[in-house]
Amino acid sequence: MWGFFSIIGLIVVLYYIIYLILWIVLDSDVELAFKERFGKPISVLEGKICWITGASSGIGKSLALELAKNNVKLVISARRIEELNKVKEECLKIAPNLKEENVLVLPMDLLNFDSHESKFKTVLDTFGCLDILVNNAGRSQRVKSWDSIDINVDRELFELDVFSVVNLSRVVVRYFKAQKNGRGHIAITSSGSGLVPVPFSPSYCGAKFAVNGYFSALKVDEPTIDVTCFCPGPIATPFLEECFTGSPDAKHGIPVSPNERRMASERCGKLFAVAIANKTMLSWVGLFPISALLYIVQYFPNLRKIVMVILGRKGMQAIREGEKKED
Ligand SMILES: NC(=O)c1ccc[n+]([C@@H]2O[C@H](COP(=O)([O-])OP(=O)(O)OC[C@H]3O[C@@H](n4cnc5c(N)ncnc54)[C@H](OP(=O)(O)O)[C@@H]3O)[C@@H](O)[C@H]2O)c1
Repeated sequence: MWGFFSIIGLIVVLYYIIYLILWIVLDSDVELAFKERFGKPISVLEGKICWITGASSGIGKSLALELAKNNVKLVISARRIEELNKVKEECLKIAPNLKEENVLVLPMDLLNFDSHESKFKTVLDTFGCLDILVNNAGRSQRVKSWDSIDINVDRELFELDVFSVVNLSRVVVRYFKAQKNGRGHIAITSSGSGLVPVPFSPSYCGAKFAVNGYFSALKVDEPTIDVTCFCPGPIATPFLEECFTGSPDAKHGIPVSPNERRMASERCGKLFAVAIANKTMLSWVGLFPISALLYIVQYFPNLRKIVMVILGRKGMQAIREGEKKED
Protein backbone atom coordinates (compact mmCIF):
# COMPACT_ATOMS: atom_id res chain seq x y z
CA MET A 1 0.00 0.00 0.00
CA TRP A 2 2.76 2.45 1.00
CA GLY A 3 4.57 1.55 -2.23
CA PHE A 4 1.53 2.67 -4.24
CA PHE A 5 1.32 6.02 -2.40
CA SER A 6 5.08 6.52 -2.80
CA ILE A 7 4.76 6.08 -6.57
CA ILE A 8 1.86 8.58 -6.73
CA GLY A 9 3.89 11.02 -4.58
CA LEU A 10 6.93 10.57 -6.80
CA ILE A 11 4.84 11.27 -9.94
CA VAL A 12 3.48 14.48 -8.36
CA VAL A 13 6.98 15.63 -7.36
CA LEU A 14 8.36 14.81 -10.83
CA TYR A 15 5.47 16.70 -12.44
CA TYR A 16 6.30 19.83 -10.46
CA ILE A 17 10.05 19.50 -11.11
CA ILE A 18 9.43 19.20 -14.87
CA TYR A 19 7.14 22.22 -14.79
CA LEU A 20 9.70 24.22 -12.79
CA ILE A 21 12.38 23.45 -15.40
CA LEU A 22 10.01 24.43 -18.21
CA TRP A 23 9.25 27.76 -16.51
CA ILE A 24 12.97 28.45 -16.43
CA VAL A 25 13.89 27.44 -19.98
CA LEU A 26 10.81 28.52 -21.97
CA ASP A 27 10.13 32.04 -23.21
CA SER A 28 6.35 31.56 -23.08
CA ASP A 29 3.77 29.72 -21.04
CA VAL A 30 3.92 25.93 -21.38
CA GLU A 31 0.78 25.59 -23.53
CA LEU A 32 2.07 28.09 -26.11
CA ALA A 33 5.51 26.44 -26.19
CA PHE A 34 3.79 23.07 -26.76
CA LYS A 35 1.60 24.54 -29.54
CA GLU A 36 4.66 26.07 -31.22
CA ARG A 37 6.31 22.66 -31.46
CA PHE A 38 3.35 20.26 -31.83
CA GLY A 39 0.27 22.42 -32.51
CA LYS A 40 -1.09 23.90 -35.72
CA PRO A 41 1.50 25.73 -37.85
CA ILE A 42 0.97 29.44 -38.53
CA SER A 43 0.33 28.47 -42.17
CA VAL A 44 -3.21 27.28 -41.19
CA LEU A 45 -4.04 30.98 -41.37
CA GLU A 46 -3.08 31.21 -45.07
CA GLY A 47 -5.69 33.12 -47.09
CA LYS A 48 -7.48 34.45 -43.98
CA ILE A 49 -8.18 38.18 -43.61
CA CYS A 50 -6.63 39.70 -40.49
CA TRP A 51 -6.97 43.32 -39.29
CA ILE A 52 -4.16 44.47 -37.00
CA THR A 53 -4.34 47.79 -35.15
CA GLY A 54 -1.09 49.44 -34.02
CA ALA A 55 0.69 47.85 -36.98
CA SER A 56 2.98 50.81 -37.71
CA SER A 57 5.66 49.67 -35.24
CA GLY A 58 6.67 47.21 -32.52
CA ILE A 59 4.64 44.08 -31.83
CA GLY A 60 1.92 44.92 -34.37
CA LYS A 61 4.46 45.36 -37.15
CA SER A 62 6.27 42.12 -36.22
CA LEU A 63 2.97 40.23 -36.18
CA ALA A 64 2.04 41.68 -39.59
CA LEU A 65 5.36 40.49 -41.07
CA GLU A 66 5.01 37.02 -39.54
CA LEU A 67 1.47 36.65 -40.90
CA ALA A 68 2.50 38.01 -44.30
CA LYS A 69 5.19 35.30 -44.50
CA ASN A 70 2.32 32.83 -44.13
CA ASN A 71 0.24 34.49 -46.87
CA VAL A 72 -2.38 35.98 -44.58
CA LYS A 73 -4.20 38.91 -46.19
CA LEU A 74 -3.77 41.98 -44.02
CA VAL A 75 -5.43 45.19 -42.99
CA ILE A 76 -2.87 47.32 -41.14
CA SER A 77 -4.01 50.30 -39.08
CA ALA A 78 -2.42 53.05 -36.97
CA ARG A 79 -2.20 56.84 -37.24
CA ARG A 80 1.13 57.19 -39.13
CA ILE A 81 0.40 56.39 -42.77
CA GLU A 82 4.09 56.68 -43.86
CA GLU A 83 5.07 53.98 -41.35
CA LEU A 84 2.16 51.78 -42.43
CA ASN A 85 3.23 52.11 -46.07
CA LYS A 86 6.75 50.99 -45.08
CA VAL A 87 5.29 47.97 -43.23
CA LYS A 88 3.23 47.10 -46.32
CA GLU A 89 6.35 47.30 -48.51
CA GLU A 90 8.23 44.98 -46.13
CA CYS A 91 5.32 42.53 -46.07
CA LEU A 92 5.22 42.34 -49.87
CA LYS A 93 9.01 41.92 -50.00
CA ILE A 94 9.13 38.92 -47.65
CA ALA A 95 5.95 37.29 -48.98
CA PRO A 96 6.25 36.84 -52.74
CA ASN A 97 2.80 35.21 -52.91
CA LEU A 98 1.07 38.27 -51.45
CA LYS A 99 -0.09 40.81 -54.01
CA GLU A 100 -0.38 44.56 -53.64
CA GLU A 101 -4.16 44.27 -53.19
CA ASN A 102 -3.75 41.70 -50.38
CA VAL A 103 -2.45 44.30 -47.90
CA LEU A 104 -4.75 47.24 -47.11
CA VAL A 105 -3.24 50.26 -45.39
CA LEU A 106 -6.09 51.70 -43.31
CA PRO A 107 -4.92 54.71 -41.31
CA MET A 108 -7.09 55.56 -38.30
CA ASP A 109 -7.00 57.20 -34.91
CA LEU A 110 -8.66 54.65 -32.64
CA LEU A 111 -9.73 57.47 -30.33
CA ASN A 112 -12.11 58.61 -33.05
CA PHE A 113 -14.80 56.12 -32.03
CA ASP A 114 -17.26 57.45 -34.62
CA SER A 115 -14.96 56.22 -37.40
CA HIS A 116 -14.89 52.57 -36.26
CA GLU A 117 -17.99 51.51 -38.26
CA SER A 118 -16.86 53.27 -41.45
CA LYS A 119 -13.30 51.89 -41.20
CA PHE A 120 -14.73 48.39 -40.83
CA LYS A 121 -16.96 49.01 -43.87
CA THR A 122 -13.79 49.84 -45.85
CA VAL A 123 -12.34 46.46 -44.78
CA LEU A 124 -15.48 44.64 -45.94
CA ASP A 125 -15.66 46.63 -49.19
CA THR A 126 -12.03 45.68 -49.91
CA PHE A 127 -11.92 42.01 -48.92
CA GLY A 128 -15.59 40.99 -48.65
CA CYS A 129 -15.11 39.54 -45.17
CA LEU A 130 -12.96 39.56 -42.02
CA ASP A 131 -11.72 36.50 -40.10
CA ILE A 132 -9.53 37.93 -37.33
CA LEU A 133 -9.29 41.28 -35.54
CA VAL A 134 -6.08 41.90 -33.57
CA ASN A 135 -6.50 44.77 -31.09
CA ASN A 136 -2.86 45.65 -30.58
CA ALA A 137 -2.64 49.48 -30.48
CA GLY A 138 -1.98 50.85 -27.01
CA ARG A 139 0.26 52.96 -24.81
CA SER A 140 1.99 52.03 -21.58
CA GLN A 141 2.75 54.24 -18.57
CA ARG A 142 5.56 55.20 -16.20
CA VAL A 143 4.81 57.34 -13.12
CA LYS A 144 6.58 58.42 -9.93
CA SER A 145 3.91 57.18 -7.56
CA TRP A 146 0.38 55.76 -7.44
CA ASP A 147 -1.07 58.94 -5.94
CA SER A 148 0.67 61.36 -8.34
CA ILE A 149 -1.56 60.55 -11.32
CA ASP A 150 -3.99 63.12 -12.68
CA ILE A 151 -7.39 61.44 -13.15
CA ASN A 152 -7.43 62.71 -16.77
CA VAL A 153 -4.46 60.42 -17.47
CA ASP A 154 -6.46 57.44 -16.18
CA ARG A 155 -9.30 58.50 -18.46
CA GLU A 156 -7.09 59.03 -21.56
CA LEU A 157 -5.26 55.75 -21.04
CA PHE A 158 -8.51 53.81 -20.60
CA GLU A 159 -9.98 55.52 -23.71
CA LEU A 160 -7.19 54.06 -25.85
CA ASP A 161 -6.18 50.82 -24.11
CA VAL A 162 -9.68 49.70 -23.08
CA PHE A 163 -12.66 51.56 -24.57
CA SER A 164 -11.38 51.90 -28.15
CA VAL A 165 -10.55 48.17 -28.08
CA VAL A 166 -13.98 47.27 -26.73
CA ASN A 167 -15.82 49.56 -29.17
CA LEU A 168 -14.00 48.32 -32.30
CA SER A 169 -14.42 44.73 -31.15
CA ARG A 170 -18.17 45.20 -30.64
CA VAL A 171 -18.49 46.46 -34.24
CA VAL A 172 -16.65 43.36 -35.47
CA VAL A 173 -18.37 40.88 -33.10
CA ARG A 174 -21.78 42.07 -34.35
CA TYR A 175 -20.57 41.27 -37.88
CA PHE A 176 -19.21 37.83 -36.83
CA LYS A 177 -22.52 36.95 -35.17
CA ALA A 178 -24.46 37.89 -38.31
CA GLN A 179 -22.42 35.40 -40.39
CA LYS A 180 -23.89 31.96 -41.21
CA ASN A 181 -21.69 30.08 -38.72
CA GLY A 182 -21.53 32.98 -36.22
CA ARG A 183 -17.77 32.47 -35.95
CA GLY A 184 -14.80 34.83 -35.84
CA HIS A 185 -11.64 35.49 -33.88
CA ILE A 186 -10.74 38.48 -31.69
CA ALA A 187 -7.16 38.76 -30.38
CA ILE A 188 -5.93 41.37 -27.93
CA THR A 189 -2.42 42.46 -27.05
CA SER A 190 -2.87 42.66 -23.32
CA SER A 191 0.21 42.49 -21.08
CA GLY A 192 1.88 40.58 -18.27
CA SER A 193 0.85 43.69 -16.31
CA GLY A 194 -2.75 42.57 -16.86
CA LEU A 195 -2.03 39.34 -14.97
CA VAL A 196 0.40 40.56 -12.29
CA PRO A 197 0.44 44.16 -11.06
CA VAL A 198 3.78 45.87 -11.70
CA PRO A 199 5.15 49.06 -10.11
CA PHE A 200 5.11 52.57 -11.59
CA SER A 201 2.17 51.89 -13.98
CA PRO A 202 -1.10 51.81 -12.02
CA SER A 203 -3.48 53.07 -14.75
CA TYR A 204 -1.84 50.76 -17.31
CA CYS A 205 -2.18 47.72 -15.01
CA GLY A 206 -5.81 48.66 -14.41
CA ALA A 207 -6.41 48.94 -18.16
CA LYS A 208 -4.78 45.62 -19.05
CA PHE A 209 -6.58 43.79 -16.21
CA ALA A 210 -9.77 45.37 -17.60
CA VAL A 211 -9.24 44.12 -21.16
CA ASN A 212 -8.52 40.62 -19.87
CA GLY A 213 -11.81 40.80 -17.95
CA TYR A 214 -13.81 42.21 -20.87
CA PHE A 215 -12.59 39.60 -23.33
CA SER A 216 -12.83 36.63 -20.95
CA ALA A 217 -16.45 37.73 -20.52
CA LEU A 218 -16.86 37.87 -24.33
CA LYS A 219 -15.84 34.20 -24.53
CA VAL A 220 -18.41 33.30 -21.87
CA ASP A 221 -21.21 35.29 -23.55
CA GLU A 222 -20.38 34.31 -27.13
CA PRO A 223 -18.86 30.82 -27.18
CA THR A 224 -18.69 30.74 -31.00
CA ILE A 225 -16.28 33.69 -31.02
CA ASP A 226 -12.63 32.71 -30.48
CA VAL A 227 -10.82 35.02 -28.09
CA THR A 228 -7.04 35.21 -27.59
CA CYS A 229 -5.66 37.37 -24.77
CA PHE A 230 -1.94 37.63 -25.52
CA CYS A 231 0.14 38.97 -22.62
CA PRO A 232 3.74 39.98 -23.42
CA GLY A 233 6.35 40.69 -20.78
CA PRO A 234 9.15 43.19 -21.63
CA ILE A 235 9.56 43.43 -25.43
CA ALA A 236 12.08 45.53 -27.36
CA THR A 237 9.82 48.06 -29.11
CA PRO A 238 9.75 51.88 -29.21
CA PHE A 239 6.82 51.92 -26.73
CA LEU A 240 8.59 53.81 -23.90
CA GLU A 241 8.79 57.00 -25.94
CA GLU A 242 5.02 57.26 -26.21
CA CYS A 243 4.35 56.11 -22.63
CA PHE A 244 1.80 58.00 -20.54
CA THR A 245 3.10 59.56 -17.32
CA GLY A 246 1.08 60.97 -14.39
CA SER A 247 0.38 64.28 -16.13
CA PRO A 248 -1.85 64.81 -19.16
CA ASP A 249 0.09 65.70 -22.33
CA ALA A 250 3.49 64.67 -20.84
CA LYS A 251 5.08 61.61 -22.43
CA HIS A 252 7.81 59.46 -20.86
CA GLY A 253 9.89 60.09 -23.99
CA ILE A 254 12.86 57.81 -23.15
CA PRO A 255 13.72 55.20 -25.79
CA VAL A 256 14.26 51.55 -24.84
CA SER A 257 18.00 50.92 -24.50
CA PRO A 258 19.46 48.08 -26.60
CA ASN A 259 21.25 46.89 -23.43
CA GLU A 260 17.98 46.05 -21.73
CA ARG A 261 17.09 42.40 -21.50
CA ARG A 262 13.87 42.26 -23.49
CA MET A 263 12.40 39.71 -25.89
CA ALA A 264 12.98 40.68 -29.54
CA SER A 265 9.86 42.09 -31.15
CA GLU A 266 10.18 39.57 -34.02
CA ARG A 267 10.08 36.61 -31.59
CA CYS A 268 7.06 38.14 -29.86
CA GLY A 269 5.32 38.55 -33.24
CA LYS A 270 6.00 34.91 -34.08
CA LEU A 271 4.66 33.63 -30.75
CA PHE A 272 1.60 35.87 -31.16
CA ALA A 273 0.97 34.30 -34.57
CA VAL A 274 1.29 30.81 -33.02
CA ALA A 275 -1.26 31.79 -30.34
CA ILE A 276 -3.69 33.04 -33.02
CA ALA A 277 -3.22 29.98 -35.26
CA ASN A 278 -3.92 27.70 -32.28
CA LYS A 279 -6.70 29.90 -30.89
CA THR A 280 -5.23 29.86 -27.38
CA MET A 281 -7.45 31.74 -24.93
CA LEU A 282 -4.66 33.14 -22.75
CA SER A 283 -0.94 33.15 -23.55
CA TRP A 284 2.05 34.94 -22.15
CA VAL A 285 5.61 35.46 -23.40
CA GLY A 286 8.83 36.90 -21.98
CA LEU A 287 12.43 36.06 -21.17
CA PHE A 288 13.26 34.35 -17.85
CA PRO A 289 12.06 34.98 -15.12
CA ILE A 290 8.88 36.52 -16.59
CA SER A 291 7.03 33.29 -17.33
CA ALA A 292 8.00 31.71 -13.99
CA LEU A 293 6.84 34.81 -12.11
CA LEU A 294 3.54 34.87 -13.98
CA TYR A 295 2.92 31.22 -13.03
CA ILE A 296 3.84 31.73 -9.38
CA VAL A 297 1.86 34.91 -8.87
CA GLN A 298 -1.27 33.56 -10.57
CA TYR A 299 -1.36 30.00 -9.29
CA PHE A 300 0.47 30.02 -5.94
CA PRO A 301 -1.00 32.90 -3.90
CA ASN A 302 1.03 32.02 -0.79
CA LEU A 303 4.30 32.02 -2.72
CA ARG A 304 3.20 35.24 -4.42
CA LYS A 305 3.35 37.15 -1.13
CA ILE A 306 6.86 35.85 -0.43
CA VAL A 307 8.12 36.58 -3.96
CA MET A 308 6.72 40.10 -3.89
CA VAL A 309 8.31 40.84 -0.51
CA ILE A 310 11.70 39.43 -1.61
CA LEU A 311 11.74 41.32 -4.92
CA GLY A 312 10.16 44.51 -3.62
CA ARG A 313 9.12 47.37 -5.86
CA LYS A 314 12.63 48.00 -7.20
CA GLY A 315 13.34 44.32 -7.92
CA MET A 316 10.08 43.93 -9.82
CA GLN A 317 10.78 47.07 -11.83
CA ALA A 318 14.31 45.85 -12.65
CA ILE A 319 12.89 42.61 -14.06
CA ARG A 320 10.20 44.48 -15.90
CA GLU A 321 12.56 46.98 -17.51
CA GLY A 322 15.10 44.26 -18.33
CA GLU A 323 18.23 43.97 -16.18
CA LYS A 324 21.12 45.89 -17.69
CA LYS A 325 23.86 43.77 -19.22
CA GLU A 326 27.48 44.51 -18.34
CA ASP A 327 28.97 46.77 -21.04
N1 LIG B 1 6.69 46.55 -25.53
C1 LIG B 1 6.35 45.94 -24.43
O1 LIG B 1 7.21 45.66 -23.56
C2 LIG B 1 4.92 45.53 -24.20
C3 LIG B 1 4.65 44.64 -23.17
C4 LIG B 1 3.34 44.25 -22.93
C5 LIG B 1 2.32 44.74 -23.73
N2 LIG B 1 2.59 45.62 -24.74
C6 LIG B 1 1.44 46.09 -25.54
O2 LIG B 1 1.72 45.87 -26.90
C7 LIG B 1 0.94 46.76 -27.70
C8 LIG B 1 1.85 47.33 -28.78
O3 LIG B 1 2.87 48.09 -28.15
P1 LIG B 1 4.37 48.12 -28.68
O4 LIG B 1 5.23 47.71 -27.56
O5 LIG B 1 4.49 47.41 -29.97
O6 LIG B 1 4.58 49.70 -28.81
P2 LIG B 1 4.65 50.66 -30.09
O7 LIG B 1 5.73 50.22 -31.01
O8 LIG B 1 4.69 52.03 -29.53
O9 LIG B 1 3.26 50.40 -30.81
C9 LIG B 1 2.07 51.04 -30.45
C10 LIG B 1 1.18 51.07 -31.68
O10 LIG B 1 -0.09 51.64 -31.32
C11 LIG B 1 -0.43 52.64 -32.30
N3 LIG B 1 -1.28 53.66 -31.69
C12 LIG B 1 -1.02 54.41 -30.59
N4 LIG B 1 -2.03 55.27 -30.38
C13 LIG B 1 -2.94 55.07 -31.37
C14 LIG B 1 -4.18 55.67 -31.72
N5 LIG B 1 -4.72 56.65 -30.99
N6 LIG B 1 -4.85 55.21 -32.82
C15 LIG B 1 -4.31 54.23 -33.57
N7 LIG B 1 -3.15 53.63 -33.29
C16 LIG B 1 -2.47 54.04 -32.21
C17 LIG B 1 0.93 53.19 -32.75
O11 LIG B 1 0.85 53.71 -34.07
P3 LIG B 1 0.76 55.26 -34.46
O12 LIG B 1 1.66 56.03 -33.54
O13 LIG B 1 1.23 55.27 -35.89
O14 LIG B 1 -0.69 55.62 -34.33
C18 LIG B 1 1.77 51.92 -32.79
O15 LIG B 1 1.61 51.26 -34.02
C19 LIG B 1 0.36 47.79 -26.74
O16 LIG B 1 -1.01 47.48 -26.52
C20 LIG B 1 1.17 47.59 -25.47
O17 LIG B 1 0.43 47.92 -24.33
C21 LIG B 1 3.87 46.03 -24.99
